Amino acid sequence: MSSQAQQSPALLGVGILGAGPVTQAIHLPSLARLGDILEVRHIMDVDPAVAESVAGRVGARFSTSMDELLADPAVDIVAICSPHQFHAPQVIAACRAGKKAVLCEKPFAMNGEEAAAISAVSAETRVPIIVGAMHTFDPGWLAAEEAWGGLPEQVHTVRSSIVLPPNPRFEDFATEIVGRVPVPGRDSNDPEALKAMLTGGVMGLAIHDLPLVRRFTPDFAAVEVLHAETVSPFGYVISLRAGDVTIELRAAMNGTWEPCWTFEAIGDDASLDIDFTPSYVHAGSATARIRTAGRTVTLGPFGHNGYEGEWRKLAELAGGTGQPPSAETLIHDLEFALAIAEAAAGRVDAGAPHDAAAEQEVNA
Ligand SMILES: NC(=O)c1ccc[n+]([C@@H]2O[C@H](COP(=O)([O-])OP(=O)(O)OC[C@H]3O[C@@H](n4cnc5c(N)ncnc54)[C@H](O)[C@@H]3O)[C@@H](O)[C@H]2O)c1
Repeated sequence: MSSQAQQSPALLGVGILGAGPVTQAIHLPSLARLGDILEVRHIMDVDPAVAESVAGRVGARFSTSMDELLADPAVDIVAICSPHQFHAPQVIAACRAGKKAVLCEKPFAMNGEEAAAISAVSAETRVPIIVGAMHTFDPGWLAAEEAWGGLPEQVHTVRSSIVLPPNPRFEDFATEIVGRVPVPGRDSNDPEALKAMLTGGVMGLAIHDLPLVRRFTPDFAAVEVLHAETVSPFGYVISLRAGDVTIELRAAMNGTWEPCWTFEAIGDDASLDIDFTPSYVHAGSATARIRTAGRTVTLGPFGHNGYEGEWRKLAELAGGTGQPPSAETLIHDLEFALAIAEAAAGRVDAGAPHDAAAEQEVNA
């Protein structure tokens, strides 16, 4: 482990587990703008070269051991940016280590049992946890939520539509990535590959908007997937119903310029539509429009996006102010995503159509 430049006692210390592209291209640039409240003090990665190189950029210590990072008294807030399968055990360990707040990249667990275990530990230790579904922290979304009044009661249709380039394009715009792991190709005729694309699409990409969808679907437990289709080289078209609400989830990760990420909630007399900035892009917040008969209210864009919003929230929580999302909310968000992913993958066995080669895994 390396030594670190002198720490400022007035700042909250950040430790990061997993220093891959998301840490390098998303979190470190966000933290660089918040140097008046937060300081990166410890970077851990199982790959020592990645840990050392990334820590060196921010003058932090590095290690290859989670236990070492969690035992570091300079670390107040832990961010978990490792691959999915490590999230739940690392969140639990960070809570047990008595840290002041935890950010877990999405998805924060891989199944309901893991989510319940996290919830129990969070209740016992009272360590606040937030999940890196960044749109829920975007000031454009938060302003819409404050302003929409009775909209959720009348919404009958929700649409999330995402057109993005493959992740490395934006990662490379943001920084020089070290230690990128190439994604293996897939056989488009293999039903298991198609199921994996639908599951990966829901749990890796749609999951950013599913907590938003759930604000308009109180009957989220009754999920019925009507149609699920893969899109080449990576994407999905999924239609479903949750209670009385019709939901369309679309994504295409291809070479299209320009990227477009929209969310719509449509009711009889009012509607909401939001343009989000693409993942990885640090260019201010989403812009939301709430339309009622003869009137459109536009909210945003504001100065920062949901990634910076996550860190501002963590600083608040670690400082003992602000409310974390309830464990119940996080569990219900995860259950909703898992139910859609499972039902969409189930459509492959029922002969769901697909479109040519499945070459890439989405992890946006
Ligand atoms: N919020 C977003 O916009 C967004 C975008 C992309 C990915 N993500 C999420 O962020 C997480 C990380 O994504 P990525 O693209 O950087 O992933 P990645 O798999 O490319 O990199 C993860 C890093 O974790 C390291 N690692 C492996 N096992 C580890 C362990 N047990 N403990 C600590 N580190 C370990 C790897 O060496 C690698 O450097 C994923 O969960 C992904 O779903 C979020």
